[in-house]
Amino acid sequence: MSAPAVELLGVHKLFDGGAHALDDVSLTVRPGEVVVLLGASGSGKSTLLRHVNGLHRASAGSVHVLGTDVGAAGGAALRRLRRGVGMVFQQFHLVGSLTVLENACTGALGALRGPRLGLPAYPRRVRGAALEQLDRVGLADQRFQRADTLSGGQQQRVAVARALLQQPRILLADEPVASLDPESAAQVMELIAALAREDRLTVLCSLHQLDVALAFGERVVGLRAGRVVLDRPVDGLDRDEAMAVYGTRAPVGVPVLAG
Ligand SMILES: Nc1ncnc2c1ncn2[C@@H]1O[C@H](COP(=O)(O)OP(=O)(O)O)[C@@H](O)[C@H]1O
Ligand SMILES: [Mg+2]
Repeated sequence: MSAPAVELLGVHKLFDGGAHALDDVSLTVRPGEVVVLLGASGSGKSTLLRHVNGLHRASAGSVHVLGTDVGAAGGAALRRLRRGVGMVFQQFHLVGSLTVLENACTGALGALRGPRLGLPAYPRRVRGAALEQLDRVGLADQRFQRADTLSGGQQQRVAVARALLQQPRILLADEPVASLDPESAAQVMELIAALAREDRLTVLCSLHQLDVALAFGERVVGLRAGRVVLDRPVDGLDRDEAMAVYGTRAPVGVPVLAG
């Protein structure tokens, strides 16, 4: 068995202000696994993801990612770790006034020294690699368009290209399709799944839509009030079982609305 890509052991996170956002969370993710974090708003999904790239430190317990003890890692080790961990967010976080290609290029900033202003400031190989990633997400033709002229689904695909440019080993996606219409959401999730398979990425993706989770993930980890209440392969998981994450049963065909 290869070493885990991500391993949380007995992790607690207590925020100033009192929230017990993670309550004794243990989770082992093998390299190449695609894990969906499912849970209602406030259940701790974002907090968990932010422990994986060291944006949060555990109040108790341990977090190991790609062999690094995140809690003990200093500045240099954290920067190295973050280069191996790409991230995609609900709100895309593109710079609207920049072109699609320049937005994709910013994925290389962690590996370059200093800020870059304007496309020519990026090394040619970075521009070439960014264009390749844009091609993979189907947006090479839009490379010179301003990012804010794209649809939400297209913007998220640019964000995926940007994340992949850094050649991560782990991809964290925090509700990547929560702002998209169902059709674009399905497209973006299929794209993430296909590219992750191609690149043999380990994926942790938080979602609040049960149906998307069941269609996309290999393994579902359910969070409720900071606790892992479900950890199962998607195969054979039925809706009612998954709905226990929300403390309710799913009326068939009714979308789960929780953020
Ligand atoms: N930076 C923070 N400071 C204080 N409380 C926080 C912070 N981030 C999250 N929380 C609290 O932690 C809990 C889990 O939040 P979060 O991880 O954002 O949940 P989710 O992503 O599942 O909606 C919530 O009660 C939230 O209010
Ligand atoms: Mg969240």
